[in-house]
Amino acid sequence: MKAPKGTYDVLPDQQAARDRVASAAKRVLEGAGYRRIETPTFEATELFARGVGASTDIVQKEMYTFDDGGGRSITLRPEGTAPVCRAYLEHGMHKLPQPVKLWYLSSFYRKEKPQAGRYRQFWQVGAEAIGSDDPAVDAESIVLLQTLLDELGVEDVRLRISSLGSPESRVRYRERLTAYLRAHEGELSKEVRDRIDLNPLRAFDSDHPGTKAVMRDAPRLLDALDADDAEHFREVRELLDRAEVAYEVDTTLVRGLDYYTRTVFEFTSDRLGAQSGVGGGGRYDGLIEQLGGKPTPGTGWAAGIERMLLAAGDERTAEPPVDLYVAFDGVEQRAAAFGVSLDARRAGMTAQMELAGRSLKGQRKHADRIGARWLAVVRADGATLRDMQTGEEVDVPPEGIVARALREGGRG
Ligand code: HAM
Repeated sequence: MKAPKGTYDVLPDQQAARDRVASAAKRVLEGAGYRRIETPTFEATELFARGVGASTDIVQKEMYTFDDGGGRSITLRPEGTAPVCRAYLEHGMHKLPQPVKLWYLSSFYRKEKPQAGRYRQFWQVGAEAIGSDDPAVDAESIVLLQTLLDELGVEDVRLRISSLGSPESRVRYRERLTAYLRAHEGELSKEVRDRIDLNPLRAFDSDHPGTKAVMRDAPRLLDALDADDAEHFREVRELLDRAEVAYEVDTTLVRGLDYYTRTVFEFTSDRLGAQSGVGGGGRYDGLIEQLGGKPTPGTGWAAGIERMLLAAGDERTAEPPVDLYVAFDGVEQRAAAFGVSLDARRAGMTAQMELAGRSLKGQRKHADRIGARWLAVVRADGATLRDMQTGEEVDVPPEGIVARALREGGRG
């Protein structure tokens, strides 16, 4: 039997790299006042239909949706922003000092075609700041993702940013774009043509040569922003300049989720193939209202853990460190060895005892292979403690092994 298509096992050798992502995310985000939240793996389907948007690929074809047995439609979360906003509303977080800053590290599910860097169950680190429309929140959030990518050694990173403006300016723009697409209908791909009314913006995303040619001269949203939105975007850019974050303004930046307003951004890595997006996000000032709350601005991002690790080229593996390996000479000594390993752990050391029936020579070899700092050998007439760094060996009674090892020093 194999794991389902598009899923994978995280093997022990790969865990150290993931732990590093988790601790870097915690350090970087909590250093800026974010606190961790975890929401359920599944939610009411309606949350994503309303939040992510009915016309998006995610909602139209990528969700794992099923009946929960009681006539309710539930969906494995394809993303984290709508669930975090749902939790913000459900727990009355608007009563807390704003913005409320939340981060998560969770698994997500999308029925996409699996390929390198694209899975059906994947993991994201995400950060959401809800309750402020200050451009400094946008800039701070972008800088935090940049910092995280730097800390993880993600290489050849590029940042593209844009602004989608307000829903009103977008409606006006959409009308202009739709009219433009209609005027060039014959040159467009069938897929784009069929969706002109549903989602004309996605035409910018098309790989179809004819569509691409048409889109080169299409009207740009960035040129259609109203004054407030243009000023907001100018301030975000000014703060990014101040933080010395390199970015490119990309007027064709399209995100696959409908909730965005104003700032949108995406980090890509040239280290990755077709799936080059390592992380992205933006502002979603209408989402909370969409979910039944009062108008509340928000901004955030999510970054794919698999893609960050791929782009960091982090192949390092690490076995857990072993302070003490407890070997024994003859099965009669097993209970004493067992006791020594328990004492060692109680004293805060990491300890393993022989569990595979190896010969004494085999046990010594094994202690060396796993990099044990100390090797104790329990015998009928006492015990020895060997410093694996210096090779020095002393006689000690079994009950004195832990104290002696601690006194002599830990892992060097
Ligand atoms: P997203 O762009 O859909 O945004 O996903 C964010 C990141 O998750 C991507 O850049 C990519 O690294 C990773 N990712 C997405 N799909 C897959 C997949 N099938 N396999 C592996 N990695 C994947 C969001 O999800 C928004 N919720 C981000 C956000 C937060 N916007 C505002 N706040």
